[in-house]
Amino acid sequence: MSDRAIDTLFLEERRYPPPAEFAAQANAQPGIYDVAAEEFWAREAQERVTWFEPFDAVLEWELPYAKWFTGGTLNVCFNCVDRHVEAGLGDRVAYFWEGEPEGDRRALTYADLQREVVRFANALKELGVEKGSHVALYLGMTPELAIAMLACTRIGAAHTVVFGGFSAESLSDRMNDFGATVLVTQDEAWRRGGTVPLKRISDEAMAAAPKVERCLVVRRTGGDVPMAAGRDTWYHELDVSDDPSTCPCEPMDAEDLLFLMYTSGTTAKPKGIMHTTAGYLVGVAASHSYIFDLKPESDVFWCSADIGWITGHSYIVYGPLCNAATSVLFEGTPDFPDKDRWWDVVERYGVTILYTAPTAIRSHMKWGPEYAERHDLSSLRLLGSVGEPINPEAWVWYHEHIGGGRCPVVDTWWQTETGMVLITPLPGITTLKPGSATKPFPTVEAGVIDEAGNEVGPGGGGYLVIKSPWPAMTRGIYGDDARFRETYWTRAPGLYFAGDGARIDRDGDFWLLGRVDDVMNVSGHRISTIEVESALVDHPNVAEAAVCGRADATTGQAIVAYVTVKGGVDPTVELMAELRNHVAAKIGPIAKPANVVFTPELPKTRSGKIMRRLLRDVAENRPLGDTTTLADPAVVSEIADRASEAPAED
Ligand code: PRX
Repeated sequence: MSDRAIDTLFLEERRYPPPAEFAAQANAQPGIYDVAAEEFWAREAQERVTWFEPFDAVLEWELPYAKWFTGGTLNVCFNCVDRHVEAGLGDRVAYFWEGEPEGDRRALTYADLQREVVRFANALKELGVEKGSHVALYLGMTPELAIAMLACTRIGAAHTVVFGGFSAESLSDRMNDFGATVLVTQDEAWRRGGTVPLKRISDEAMAAAPKVERCLVVRRTGGDVPMAAGRDTWYHELDVSDDPSTCPCEPMDAEDLLFLMYTSGTTAKPKGIMHTTAGYLVGVAASHSYIFDLKPESDVFWCSADIGWITGHSYIVYGPLCNAATSVLFEGTPDFPDKDRWWDVVERYGVTILYTAPTAIRSHMKWGPEYAERHDLSSLRLLGSVGEPINPEAWVWYHEHIGGGRCPVVDTWWQTETGMVLITPLPGITTLKPGSATKPFPTVEAGVIDEAGNEVGPGGGGYLVIKSPWPAMTRGIYGDDARFRETYWTRAPGLYFAGDGARIDRDGDFWLLGRVDDVMNVSGHRISTIEVESALVDHPNVAEAAVCGRADATTGQAIVAYVTVKGGVDPTVELMAELRNHVAAKIGPIAKPANVVFTPELPKTRSGKIMRRLLRDVAENRPLGDTTTLADPAVVSEIADRASEAPAED
């Protein structure tokens, strides 16, 4: 974000104190900030989770690795499903599932969920999955994705969910890194009336992932897909029991691996972020209850993220189910078949809490409020935002046009690595400022430091750090201790470095300013510049490529690729399209560059480093700063001329 934008943020003077009626009934009351960390989390762990064996210690902290609730044993599926049925909540709806094709919908009660999970877990066992197995899940937004995750946790297998928009190569890379032996996928996924061939992509991925022995295929569209004898099995053809007594919940150690979620860093290789059993579950359940003020008996919670990202793991699956919530699970997109689809969903299910991303809010803003006005949104009482800094105009639009001016908006800052929300308003307590994520969650200690590691005073910008451990924090990068220490723990000794810029204002409120590393944020998705560069240079016609993000009014950032072609290759418009598609095929459509700029040379320092800062300036039409360290300063002005002529695509 430019300095100008930062200063504009600080001129934001609108204030939204919590409505009195909301404050009076809120789950989080002001005293919540006064409780000491270990006392707070010990109580949350005892009250929110059912343990098979109680824990001995709340926290063992050996920087950078924390262990929470050591000595305790529990089962995540038991906590998310079985115990609710045992407590007489079997008839409560766990998920209202809304499929993409209109009319394709299902309500799953907790009792239904228990039967489905048991059946799925028995199917996995038939395929050889057992405690400690590694299972990859590559599905769309169907109930079976949540069911498969819960089935893994029931029998003690760790999962990694790969977002259904990723390519075969992304899927095989993740399966290989994780050492997955079983893959669960579906025939095809619906996408805007068309289909995404998940099984076909899985076949390609399995060809490059020799450890994967079995593949379980869920039928969704009914499309014809090839099945490899001995390896592939249709889920619906397995004759397995759904009786809970046939598949008890495996007692797991508090620190057993629950799942990996891969995320982009500053190198081409995604990192497998590890989350373990007890700390993660307690962290997501507590944060879900306080931040969203969840009343499980009356609320209908809708997190619009995809389960393939951390937001979906924490706030569609594990947090809400542990809290016995009723959630909406939506397979489709906001504008299919029309731009009021979301508002139809809110009205149909009486959604009370909506959690979404700024990029989606900005799309709705662009389409206009008339689509929301077609529907009765009076059930809503709380709104949430996540994924990137929310600009004040989008915040206010969301508050007015979706929340009818009555719903608090919680802007929640967190990451794949943090597992749970760490900076956020509490809706019955915090006075809101559009564009600010406000305060650290109770017990969380956050700060802003400068280059030298010193704390920055009010108003100053710097690096966001977290100063003490929290239960859902990652337990590391799978198989790469050195990278874990280097990425998060070396900027300032003893502090967790998030990779984000931030400022704290005079009231102690945090304003997030975006990434400070080579990670872009496109529609709330993290994509590394180097991943896209590697995909581009993989094309036979490309000699060199440099990638940066530029500001985009809808997607937050858009990807700009500067490409030098090999000698004798014509830099044509057709090649531009081919390169964009090549990146989509290598990584996934979310990583497609919005612009490709052909240039005879890239701006490099005399030591040969690409000057990405200058490329960003070019991409955002800023005056070019100091170019004296460049080997050939003339290169930049030539690139600037070409960039101004380059067509942009969606
Ligand atoms: O830059 C921050 C941004 O998203 C990054 C984390 O991305 P990911 O691990 O994919 O998780 C996304 C959902 C939790 C952060 O480093 N980010 C996320 N939420 C916010 C945000 N930036 C500003 N404000 C937020 N509320």
